[in-house]
Amino acid sequence: MSAEPRALDARATRTLTDLRRAETSALLATDAARAAIAVHGTPVMLLDLERVRRQYRRLRNALPFVRFHYAVKALAHDAVIDALAEAGCGFDVATGDELALLGRHGVSAGRVIHTHPVKKASEIADAITAGVRTFVVDNDTELEKFADAPADVRILVRLAYRSPHAKSDLSAKFGVGAFEAAHLVERAKRLGIRISGFSFHVGSQLDDPQRFADAATETLQLMADLEKRFRVRFDTLDIGGGFPIAYDSPVASVEQIAALLRPVLEPHLRRLDILAEPGRVMVAEAMTLVTSVVGIAERADGRWYHLDDGVYGSYSNVMTEDVHPLIFAERDLRRAGTDAGSRRWATLAGPTCDSSDVIAREVTLPELAVGDLLASPVMGAYTTVTATRFNGRPLTPIAVVGQGMPTGEVAAVPVGAVRQTVP
Ligand SMILES: Cc1ncc(COP(=O)(O)O)c(C=O)c1O
Repeated sequence: MSAEPRALDARATRTLTDLRRAETSALLATDAARAAIAVHGTPVMLLDLERVRRQYRRLRNALPFVRFHYAVKALAHDAVIDALAEAGCGFDVATGDELALLGRHGVSAGRVIHTHPVKKASEIADAITAGVRTFVVDNDTELEKFADAPADVRILVRLAYRSPHAKSDLSAKFGVGAFEAAHLVERAKRLGIRISGFSFHVGSQLDDPQRFADAATETLQLMADLEKRFRVRFDTLDIGGGFPIAYDSPVASVEQIAALLRPVLEPHLRRLDILAEPGRVMVAEAMTLVTSVVGIAERADGRWYHLDDGVYGSYSNVMTEDVHPLIFAERDLRRAGTDAGSRRWATLAGPTCDSSDVIAREVTLPELAVGDLLASPVMGAYTTVTATRFNGRPLTPIAVVGQGMPTGEVAAVPVGAVRQTVP
């Protein structure tokens, strides 16, 4: 690579960091954020619903013919569900529990697709009874579970497109290639089950716009081949999720990805229902984590700050996805510019007794004292939902702040509705 693109990358990263710093600074200065910190203490997540609505609007503007279904697994929060339901968004679930959560919010099952390729027969039966009509399979055993399903149930075959550069290469676990897809279509025909179409997921946090377009192109080609070969007709294409978000460096925008997808998809709009299941891109920027310094230690490798949230809690994305969240000291946010003289490298550790509970190393920070606040933006996706209660620590509360809130008011939403997985 020439020196020039790298220089551009560095500049773009600096610009992104400056933008995130300014956004975080503005958020922490609001009455609602101050009130949330006063009510909950730290750690606390600040959730701005307007950013969720904005991302949904962006996706709709970029791909107006796609029916979006928010992947609830990214952040199964009551206020997010209500905001998206009100905006007209559909929902994508992976479990009966997520479906039940949506039901409690009055979301009709007709707006829900169930895209987990492997599920218990009882879960399928419950979802069908509740009114869900779209399901995904990727193997014979799963297909056979739909032998007696009502005729209006849509079954999609999940295809695999490996993306080793994604944060989560979902095709490493699910999906089939063209050969197995043909086998499933043939087998379904013999069982009297109608395959309505195909789905894929290019991998979560995939910064490769062309991959989205290529996967759609290959899937459409496969659909055309199989229609001819088996004399069947498909009517649905689900392009999955995967849209990336800029954590600590710039990524392709929704608009850039859409610009490549549109010419591939547009010729098929009259006969295909096109769905998508985005999760991360809808909610990642909507939450900011506020933590504080609990302890300070000089260790062999220098200064360590011990915080009250860590990789077994809201920073679970560091461990599960190798995300590198930006971490700003409130001291820096409060003053314009930085005082280079008083800054030092430090390690930021989480609160548990496990030595792998390290959030970041070699972070440049001002001198911090116990009680000082730190904030990480872009903490909305795959954070709270994958946090654990390791060491008996409670899950970090989520406070709704931002637009739509009267100044100074804080809606403290209990995290009970958020699913918890313990590794
Ligand atoms: C089946 C399925 N759909 C949608 C998503 C959401 O993907 P993303 O958050 O990358 O948009 C996932 C993520 O794991 C998934 O497994």
